[in-house]
Amino acid sequence: MDFLVSTTHLHITTWVIGLILFFIAAAGISKSKGVHMALRLFYILMIITGGALYWEYGINFRTDATGMGYDMKFLFAILTIAMMEMVLVKKNKGKKNGLFWILFAVFLFLTLFYGFKLPMGSSFLA
Ligand code: HEM
Repeated sequence: MDFLVSTTHLHITTWVIGLILFFIAAAGISKSKGVHMALRLFYILMIITGGALYWEYGINFRTDATGMGYDMKFLFAILTIAMMEMVLVKKNKGKKNGLFWILFAVFLFLTLFYGFKLPMGSSFLA
C-alpha cells in the first residue's frame, strides 16, 4: 500500500474534492441529493488516505519531534468532517446551522494548520 503513504498527493486530492462538493451542496449550487451522497463517499476516501498516513507516520514511524501533532491532525480532521455533515443535515431540514458553520471553519483551520506543519508533504509552517 505504498501509494497511500509515499506522498500526500492522493490524500490532498480527496479532501480538495470533498471541500468542493461540500461548498456546492452547502451553497445550494446543486440541489441534487447526489452531491451529498458523493461527498459522503469522499469522507470515506479522506479517512482511508489520511488514516493510512496516520498509521504510517503517526504510529509506526512516530518520532518525538512531532509530539501530539498527528493525533491532533486526526482529531480535528474527523471533527471537520462531522461539522460538514451537520451543516448539510441542518440545512436540509431547514434548521439554523450558523454554529456548525463556525465550528467547521475553526476545525478546518486547525486541520490545515497541523497538516501543513507536520513533516510529510509541504511543511512550510514548520
Ligand atoms: C477535512 C478533511 C481534511 C483536510 C482538509 C486535511 C488536510 C491535510 C493537509 C493540508 C495535509 C498536509 C499535506 C501536505 O503537506 O502535503 C494533510 C496530511 C495528513 N492528513 Fe489530512 N486532511 C483531512 C482529513 C484527514 C483525515 C480524516 C485524517 C485521518 C484519518 C487525516 C490525516 C492526515 C495525516 C496523517 C497527514 C500527514 C501529515 C504530515 O506528516 O504532513 N487527514 N491533511
